[in-house]
Amino acid sequence: MSETRPVMNLRDLSIPLRVAATCLLLVIVGGYAASLHFMKHHISQKDGDPELSWVDLVGTYHGVDKPAPMLTALDDSRHGVWLKDAPADDLQILRDWLSKGSAVGGGTDPVQQGWDALPPGASEEALTPADVIDERCVRCHGAAATDADAHKEVALERWPTLKNFVYSKKLDPISTDILAQSTHAHALSIPVFTLIACGMLLATCWPRWFRHGAAMLAFLGLLLDFGGMWLARASEFGCYVLVAGGALYGLALGSAIAASLVAMWLGRSASAP
Ligand code: HEC
Repeated sequence: MSETRPVMNLRDLSIPLRVAATCLLLVIVGGYAASLHFMKHHISQKDGDPELSWVDLVGTYHGVDKPAPMLTALDDSRHGVWLKDAPADDLQILRDWLSKGSAVGGGTDPVQQGWDALPPGASEEALTPADVIDERCVRCHGAAATDADAHKEVALERWPTLKNFVYSKKLDPISTDILAQSTHAHALSIPVFTLIACGMLLATCWPRWFRHGAAMLAFLGLLLDFGGMWLARASEFGCYVLVAGGALYGLALGSAIAASLVAMWLGRSASAP
């Protein structure tokens, strides 16, 4: 028989010990679920929108510095042609307004307030950003746009749709100190309960490839997860590594725990023929 039999088999433990092992595994599941919930809650606030998104993740570990889409549009070559008749001063009004803040989300903020208002001290004849948009952009970006190059999907006439194009995003990654603090707490504790869960899986009747494979993937996932968090400071690629590592780890840990529980109560005993 090529199959190695574990030295100890959970199935052969006394009922009290199996109850103890089951409770231990369930506590690990609970702790892991709570930490996922905490992470999700903590990270998803990052960009101001409560939903968890890729921007939250990149913002947390790498940082995001993305100018408002309207600023990008003002600088792109196609708009350069379309806006060649617009006085530079008018476009500067938009640039000054958009650079008012890298505020994120709605609410009362300098960008929203400045949209339809003159800056303090401006003359009566001066244009507000809303005036400039009406004059220079709405022929392509208004509900009634008729220009051959019109693009009504980008609706700039009214605030509810305009607001999607006027905010720059600048998110600083968590500090090295905080990341070091989190790494020291987690990198020294997670492997311990992972070892316990994998050790239990090793003491079951499941095929060797599965027991050994799950243990390998769990620890590989952990290494990628922690490594990715640090790599992400230098490159956004690290965010992919950390997500892939985290997913691999969760999958391997979940399989190890589920398989251990099944084998412990329903599996084959080592003394069975
Ligand atoms: C002649 C038509 C035309 C005019 C005038 C025009 N645009 Fe556009 N705009 C377009 C088209 C077409 C697109 C989509 C394709 C592209 O981005 O090149 C677009 C895209 C955009 C986008 C979306 C970019 C993105 O990242 O999704 C913004 C923001 C924008 N324009 C702002 C403006 C502003 C501000 C003005 C006025 C100062 C303006 N546009 C004037 C035709 C126009």
